[in-house]
Parts: sequence; C-alpha cells; structure tokens
Amino acid sequence: MFIVLEGIDGSGTTTQLDRLAERLRAAGRRVVATREPSPGPIGLLLREILRGTHANPDGTGLDGRAMALLFAADRRDHLTREIEPALASGADVISDRYLLSSLAYQAVEADRAWVEQLASGVREPDLTLLLDVDIAVAAQRRTKAGRPVERYDADGTLARVAENYRRLAAGRPNIVRIDGTPSPADVEQAIMRELEALLAAR
Ligand code: TYD
Repeated sequence: MFIVLEGIDGSGTTTQLDRLAERLRAAGRRVVATREPSPGPIGLLLREILRGTHANPDGTGLDGRAMALLFAADRRDHLTREIEPALASGADVISDRYLLSSLAYQAVEADRAWVEQLASGVREPDLTLLLDVDIAVAAQRRTKAGRPVERYDADGTLARVAENYRRLAAGRPNIVRIDGTPSPADVEQAIMRELEALLAAR
C-alpha cells in the first residue's frame, strides 16, 4: 500500500505518521515511512528555502513557479530513489505529504491549471488521508511545538491552502478527509478505520 498523510502545517501529519507506522509494523507489515520535502538533495534545499535561508539578492522570496518546479523535482527524485523500490520490494510506503501538498500549496502562488499539469502522470497513492483542522488550532499547535515560522505559515495563506485541500478531496474516493481536531489517539483510530476499509476492499 502507498498511503499519504496531508494537511496544513500543524494538522498533525508527522505525529500520525509515526503512529501509523507503528500500527502497521505491529500487524506484521513491512513499512517504509518517509516524507516530503524528501531527505534527498532537492528536499534538503527546499527545507532551507522554506525557512528563508536562501532569499534572493534583493531580499525577495523565490518565485512561486520556481518553488512548484523544485517540489516536482524532489518528488521525481523521491519516487525513483525511495518510493518505487520500496513498493516493488513489497513494503508499505507511508509518506508525510506528497502530491496533494503541491496541488494545495503551490496553487496559492502559481496558476492552478499549470500546477495541475505539472502533477499529471505522477504515481497516485492508494489512499490519501487529509487531516482537517481549523487554521487557528494548527497555529496554536505550531507555536506550542516551537516550530519556526516558514514560507507558507501566514494564516491567510493557510486558509487558502485548507480551502484547496477540501476542494481536492471532494468527490475523490481515494482522498479521505478526517477531522484532525480530536486527541492524537482518536485521530489514530479514525485513520485505522479507513485503512481497515482499504485492506478489506483489496
Ligand atoms: P512540513 O511538512 O510542515 O515539515 P516540517 O515539519 O519539517 O516543517 O513543511 C513542509 C512545507 O512545505 C509545508 O509548509 C508544506 C510545503 N510543501 C509544499 O508547499 N508543496 C509540496 O509539494 C510539499 C511536499 C510541501
């Protein structure tokens, strides 16, 4: 299975990825847990850019379409280097963010049709779980966790990202929206229910 967790910054994808990996391993499955931006060279560069380490010489941030191309390049590298070989070896792959992040975030700063075109032909996950939380709740969680402020963290931006996520999830059976507001244990249970349904359908 190729499973992806998505949501705005502070929605709990990283917490739930760890829990999901543990649950699947406890059930005897071999799991490769990964994330995007990936641990590869383009992913590392992206993380630095997101933190504002590489501003342009005039102090402005990187152009939105350049960001979209970097995320797409990182995904291609991540797929070739890690995801495809792991799936081919029979492991489950679970990823903290993937294609839907690009469709939701990059559509805020670049033309949506162009962003969608860039995403076409990329391997689709078997299931994408969208953790849906209010932007104020997500902001509180980021502050509490002491996370540095990054490129997309402004409330106005995240409100548009959240709207994009909801639009993308609507009517697509392989994208499931889960309320990310309850306790981590309750969200974990909701995720496990979706996975059990997927396994039963296979
Ligand atoms: P995040 O996943 O929150 O990682 P960390 O916990 O290390 O800060 O941050 C990644 C950021 O990158 C987040 O703001 C979403 C953004 N992003 C995109 O805009 N497009 C993408 O395709 C991906 C994978 C991430």
